[in-house]
Amino acid sequence: MDLIDTHCHLTFKGLAGDVAAVIERSRAAGVTSWITVGTDPEHNRKAVEFAERFENMYAAVGIHPHDAKTVTAGILKELRELAQHNRVVAIGETGLDYHYNHSRPQEQVRAFVSQLKIAKDLNLPVIVHCREAFDETIGILEQHGSGVRKVVFHCFSGSAEQAKIILDKGFYISFTGVVTFKNAKASREAAQVVPMDRLMIETDCPYMSPEPMRKQKINEPALMIHTAAFLAELKGMGLADFAEAVTATSRAFFGLPSADVAGFV
Ligand code: NI
Repeated sequence: MDLIDTHCHLTFKGLAGDVAAVIERSRAAGVTSWITVGTDPEHNRKAVEFAERFENMYAAVGIHPHDAKTVTAGILKELRELAQHNRVVAIGETGLDYHYNHSRPQEQVRAFVSQLKIAKDLNLPVIVHCREAFDETIGILEQHGSGVRKVVFHCFSGSAEQAKIILDKGFYISFTGVVTFKNAKASREAAQVVPMDRLMIETDCPYMSPEPMRKQKINEPALMIHTAAFLAELKGMGLADFAEAVTATSRAFFGLPSADVAGFV
């Protein structure tokens, strides 16, 4: 099995110091490629470093909505430069988070729109973080997203109705271990309406370990196998078929080669 963790934060505390062992355990579990996602200038640089260093690892670079208030012209300039690195496969994570509001809504909107522009100019897909800002996020994508190659709503925990709106726009949906939680009935209903050619999976580690490992404080890519098995069963598929389909969708979305080994430099 060759699953891709399409959204992990391997540069974060709890994982970065031990990353070689984290990758080893992941490989042993059948999760053999990773997209490590930056959230601020420091983690963006580190994500690219990791992607250079490890086989089958790629980076996404972006400024998280929490950090939108820190965005300056200089930061955007660096982001644009870093995004042109050959191991960078997406812009993100970016978007809107009106749950925490660590940055003001207008700062979040400005940072989001600026990153959509970079993605459009560089022909990169976008990883969207959306929390308690569904209508606003869709609105911005409609207004400023034309010309953006592809969009995924990461860590989706909305309803089937919201999933249908996302699918109607031609966007993709990615599920974390949240879908395995007992109280996540809405997410499971949503997963049932997402066809396999629009569905991806991720850990969003170090956060949100899936059941039955929810007690493991620091989530890691190896545990994504539980999310894969859970969703396969939910969709009435064998795990191998599910893995093949979800990996094909992820490779196509991010434009990853089918195997990185030969081309790795
Ligand atoms: Ni994330």
